[in-house]
Amino acid sequence: MTLEHSVLFSPQKIGAYTLKNRLAIAPMTRVSADKAGLMTTEMARYYQSFAESGFGLIITEGLYTDKRYSQAYRNQPGLSDIQQAKSWQPLLSSLNASGTLLIAQLMHGGALSQYNKYQDHTRGPSAVRPLGQQMPFYYGQGQYPLPEQMTMQDIREVIKGFVSAALFAQSAGFHGVEIHGANGYLLDQFLTPYSNRRSDVYGGLLANRLRLYREILQAVRAAVGDNFIVGVRFSQKKVNDNEHTWPEAIEAAWQTFTLAKNSQVDYIHTTEPQAWAPAFANSPSLAALAKHYSGLPVIANGGIVEGEQALDVIKHQQADIVAIGRAALANPNWVDAIKYGQALRAFDYDLFKPIANLENASRYLDSVS
Ligand SMILES: Cc1cc2nc3c(=O)[nH]c(=O)nc-3n(C[C@H](O)[C@H](O)[C@H](O)COP(=O)(O)O)c2cc1C
Repeated sequence: MTLEHSVLFSPQKIGAYTLKNRLAIAPMTRVSADKAGLMTTEMARYYQSFAESGFGLIITEGLYTDKRYSQAYRNQPGLSDIQQAKSWQPLLSSLNASGTLLIAQLMHGGALSQYNKYQDHTRGPSAVRPLGQQMPFYYGQGQYPLPEQMTMQDIREVIKGFVSAALFAQSAGFHGVEIHGANGYLLDQFLTPYSNRRSDVYGGLLANRLRLYREILQAVRAAVGDNFIVGVRFSQKKVNDNEHTWPEAIEAAWQTFTLAKNSQVDYIHTTEPQAWAPAFANSPSLAALAKHYSGLPVIANGGIVEGEQALDVIKHQQADIVAIGRAALANPNWVDAIKYGQALRAFDYDLFKPIANLENASRYLDSVS
């Protein structure tokens, strides 16, 4: 089936910008930056190829926000100084030709940090060792370290880091930022009762566990003004816990997505193993709940491989935009393939072996094509 004339290829407004279609690249950490956290020409080529293949929006991999406790991975790119921000400018200039927008994902690793050039220990909401094991394909090994509990001053520094990273992104020419509130990283550690045992205003009730989201979103919006996209990503699952569901279920969805709307964000990005599946027993999907409670544009991500699946998610009012991760890595021509009904290659985790960087992925793709 060709989807050339479907809604997938119609424009969609987010904030002050209009996307040329409903197809986005999901944020994917590829541990390929240089030692100073700068983006490389290899990375620019990788992102440029998604623009050339027709995606209307690219969300970058998670960029660390400060030189304190935010960095999570060796060779992760950062947005903690002006040189790091400027290293994205060649890509930004080349994207102008294709009309693809670039949003920087701002990420604080918190207790899930596996490597930090600036510190030899981790800090999170509470001194609770994260579940699971570090990820070998990002150079990790064994248990996560036991984090120190963040002080009030640490939390103020976290907020400052998100604000300054957003300002660096804006000055470098990005079209917006996405606050990474998902997948088990720092903000999600605050949201999750088992990693947040605090007894102060950041712990306990759901409204307290969401406080840091609100403070970051509001501070970033106040700093960047209205004409720069600010989005936020939420999930139930985590890189170190693929069973987790929000304990307050639908009440959590209501409070979370209302908070995003009240914090003047331009879009909500939800990720679930299957973007279209019920979020809770007998409920709509997380994306549909985000749309329902916020009225904002919603990006849905997770498990979308075929064009018809993407179309279904949009047609059934679950979301406005779909974000594609692994299927786009396995099929760098994914947009054209679904547009003209061409066959897709199945994703294979060999693409990330032994390290999930761009060099190994190119080698893998050369070997199978
Ligand atoms: C190698 C890899 C790196 C990822 N890095 C990030 C990241 O930096 N930030 C983020 O929010 N999600 C990250 N994710 C999650 C993806 O954005 C996406 O949610 C996940 O791959 C599911 O979507 P898919 O089924 O389309 O692949 C990553 C996923 C993969 C496979």
